[in-house]
Amino acid sequence: MKFFVDTADTNDIRDLAESGLVDGVTTNPSLIHKSGRDFLEVVREICTITPGPVSAEVVALDHDGMMREAEILRKIADNVAVKVPLTIDGLKTCKALTDDGTMVNVTLCFSANQALLAAKAGASFISPFVGRHDDIGFDGMQLISDIRLIYDNYDFGTEILVASVRHPIHVLESAKLGADVMTAPPAVIRQLIKHPLTDKGIEGFMADWAKSGQKIG
Ligand code: E4P
Repeated sequence: MKFFVDTADTNDIRDLAESGLVDGVTTNPSLIHKSGRDFLEVVREICTITPGPVSAEVVALDHDGMMREAEILRKIADNVAVKVPLTIDGLKTCKALTDDGTMVNVTLCFSANQALLAAKAGASFISPFVGRHDDIGFDGMQLISDIRLIYDNYDFGTEILVASVRHPIHVLESAKLGADVMTAPPAVIRQLIKHPLTDKGIEGFMADWAKSGQKIG
């Protein structure tokens, strides 16, 4: 499963990339706002940190406007994936862009039928939002399981990009269900590293090593 980082914080992206934990990056208008930086500038910088797909979202709601913005975004770098919302205009834009060889991430997916439409429109990635689904009392992971089944039934090439990941269990379940990608905030990715028994084990080894009086080198 590929790991994308869901952030516009380039320090976090750089730090995680050093551990080989960044296969791509996703941003959205809220994350750009949080970064306090210029949208195009930050996307440009992220594209230099990772060669993987970098999702940059359009903010126009009509097809012509989306195409105009996509034109600017896709010129930033070859690894830009234009992010469009799951609306009829978003799907039209998806079809036009992917027919033209541009990666597209269709976002704000909350049903398996929506995911089916995105695949038919040629999406490179579909982003089902599991955390927001859980928030309203639905089972976000069931959505991933349904989309996996449908995509496998028809051999769709669209990658399932699990989004709105809030905790390590979302990551574990995504991997078990065979999701292609998950995107999580840096804090969640760092949570995956931690285990109390790892810390306790290091502590024990260090204490015994000190008692041995030895040095390496
Ligand atoms: C994904 O592309 C989105 O940017 C993101 O995962 C949304 O997460 P949230 O529901 O925590 O805002």
